[in-house]
Amino acid sequence: MSDIQTIESEALKAIDGASDLQSLDAVRVAELGKKGRVSGLMKTLGKMSPKERQEMGPKLNALKNRVADAVEARKTTLEDAALEAQLATETLDMTLPPKPEHVGALHPVTQVFEEVAAIFGDMGFAVAEGPDIEDDWHNFTALNFPEGHPARETHDTFFMETPEGGDPKVLRTHTSPVQIRTMTSQKPPIRILAPGRVYRNDWDATHTPMFHQVEGLVIEKGIHMGHLKGCLVDFVKAFFEVDDVEARFRPHFFPFTEPSAEMDVKYTKKGETIEIGAGDRWMEILGSGMVHPNVLRNCGIDPDEYQGFAFGMGIDRLAMLKYGMPDLRPYFEADPAWTRHYGFKPWLTPSVSGGLS
Ligand code: DAH
Repeated sequence: MSDIQTIESEALKAIDGASDLQSLDAVRVAELGKKGRVSGLMKTLGKMSPKERQEMGPKLNALKNRVADAVEARKTTLEDAALEAQLATETLDMTLPPKPEHVGALHPVTQVFEEVAAIFGDMGFAVAEGPDIEDDWHNFTALNFPEGHPARETHDTFFMETPEGGDPKVLRTHTSPVQIRTMTSQKPPIRILAPGRVYRNDWDATHTPMFHQVEGLVIEKGIHMGHLKGCLVDFVKAFFEVDDVEARFRPHFFPFTEPSAEMDVKYTKKGETIEIGAGDRWMEILGSGMVHPNVLRNCGIDPDEYQGFAFGMGIDRLAMLKYGMPDLRPYFEADPAWTRHYGFKPWLTPSVSGGLS
């Protein structure tokens, strides 16, 4: 057997027998390395006669290539096997819950905002926003609170320092100024829902200086109290997840609506829990009314052409009613234990078809 054949068969056998990448590399060095056997044979070419070289050159080159190819092939096989082995030991059981258990939770107010937006979104309302620091015109004047009108006093307003000659600024006392911002920047038909923080200088068991409201506004041709009533009754049924609700609209006064009404719903008290929908007591849950013609005019909308209704409700109390929180104050104490207890999983987005809570 010639040197070439011997070396080739021995090398291929050693390559095949290499059980890991390290021993394969040792074989590669022994055959193809600088001092390796194949390299040694290649060096003999220099001492050959031209004729011999012409014959042996291609043979030795072919040997070198076959050995190198065999090393590469074995390397791929060994690497694949190593990966397989690693994957087999590093299994991940996808059926187990994530660890640690989720620590963050949505505040009930955020959850209720999302539920309310889902319900009205289903009725074609878009979410609108306005600034927390509002000017006097948007918060009061445009909403038909004339200067010096006693209704302004009921709002316990936080006034901001006003620069000389500047617009008087307040922390908005309600979300109604978003009505004005919407009507002065969009053309009817309008259907918006404005959730947000509002501020009043008040602090006791049922009042906090910052609280949350949701405002609704519909401006279209031919809108009347029937639309207001149907829309709000549908909302209450969806929100409290009850098939029927007994409601009444009780005359009230708001400067920006005429007529104005507060909506009451019947409820039952069973021990500490409250069931909304039927029962022997009335509970007030929101303010509403037909948008006052002065408000439409202040926003450049012709009241002879367009009518609308509006409503506003306190979200904190709606959350308390729906989820049984007895006290308003812990809402704003940022106690993680409270949030864990009353909070919601952040990935469960409420929807009318998929379920609210
Ligand atoms: N802005 C009123 C408040 O804070 C609530 C309200 C009542 C809003 C009637 C409305 C409405 O849009 O029509 O007390």
